[in-house]
Amino acid sequence: FDAVDVIRTKRDGGSLSPAQIDWVVDAYTRGAVAEEQMSALAMAVFLRGMDRAEISRWTHAMIASGERLDFSPLVASGARRATADKHSTGGVGDKITLPLAPLVAVFGVAVPQLSGRGLGHTGGTLDKLEAVPGWRAALSNDEMLAQLREVGAVICAAGSGLAPADKKLYALRDVTGTVESIPLIASSIMSKKIAEGTQALVLDVKVGSGAFMKDLGSARQLARTMVDLGTDAGVRTTALLTDMSTPLGLAVGNAVEVEESVEVLAGGGPADVVELTVALAEEMLAASGVPGADPAAALRDGRAMDVWRAMLRAQGGDPDAPLPRARETETVTAAEDGVLTGLDAYRVGVAAWRLGAGRARKEDAVQAGAGVVLHAKPGDAVRAGQPLLSLRTDTPERFARAREALEGAVVIEPAAPAGAARRSVVLE
Ligand code: URA
Repeated sequence: FDAVDVIRTKRDGGSLSPAQIDWVVDAYTRGAVAEEQMSALAMAVFLRGMDRAEISRWTHAMIASGERLDFSPLVASGARRATADKHSTGGVGDKITLPLAPLVAVFGVAVPQLSGRGLGHTGGTLDKLEAVPGWRAALSNDEMLAQLREVGAVICAAGSGLAPADKKLYALRDVTGTVESIPLIASSIMSKKIAEGTQALVLDVKVGSGAFMKDLGSARQLARTMVDLGTDAGVRTTALLTDMSTPLGLAVGNAVEVEESVEVLAGGGPADVVELTVALAEEMLAASGVPGADPAAALRDGRAMDVWRAMLRAQGGDPDAPLPRARETETVTAAEDGVLTGLDAYRVGVAAWRLGAGRARKEDAVQAGAGVVLHAKPGDAVRAGQPLLSLRTDTPERFARAREALEGAVVIEPAAPAGAARRSVVLE
């Protein structure tokens, strides 16, 4: 095969053959197809798309580039009744994995939650948990299995052996304007999830300004593509479409999101975070064949908190240690009286990123205390001068660029538009 022929085939709108796909993914992983060739191919896929057979073959070629995990001994030995996992397509203030993994484990299901770091305006679960003193993200496969057996939930970094083709390709897409492509996102996410070997998978497909999919139609198409890939590979896969037009909860950052997750695990926390955590837990438990579970009760009565504490301790974290706080805070206030009708997820995400909660380059460190704390949510009445957002950072020279990012993020209207009852975060 020749890389240029493969690129030309897709450039001209043709379908790639299974043999072409197997070859190009493998050759790219080995370094025999150059970065500039794969970037041209990724752009051709972005512009021309792929059909269902191509997406499926591409996903399986990425799985075949690395190892596959196997959690079946956990279930076969009777230690756990099933394995279930959740994956979000990425959002702002999306800390749901933190309360969700221990919550589902309460019901005897093993939750192997392989997570990532933030890049760009979306946060990363591992960056958030690293705000907990002592907690470590890197576990061996044996440590992971042992923790799943004893605690039931683990949130850790995907080892370098899992879908290495995706690791290379994702970094390339990030710098070549080829992220927001349904075939490329679907194959990226599902290659990792199928290789991970979970029995059930619930996808949280985000829609809105803070998501990769800005409208319901494209989010539906992404969800359908991923559900088909999972189902064809024998993973019980379902999807919820959820709102990402405004941040989830009141905290966007690292330590501040851990703090909010702990509130949810203590039976409190913002209504939208609780709603989504419970909705996803119900999906995961239904897919795992656990009848009659009441996850909302397990948040209220402390059972989920007990698993959370055990989960942190198993990875070296101290659940009682104070979380880091940023050294400096600035406040954004309401310019007028009225109703807050918009608080844009993307702009708040960029502000948190610029304050130091995220990284500009992959090798940068994040600030544990940096981020944005919301004091009002869309639908709330506000008064001129009232605090709307707290901006937090250790490095005050970052405030100016964060404020720039927030221009246009806040919309206050004299009255709520007719029929504007607070929407459910779960759209479909
Ligand atoms: N998350 C992934 O893992 N891959 C994508 O392409 C987008 C979001």
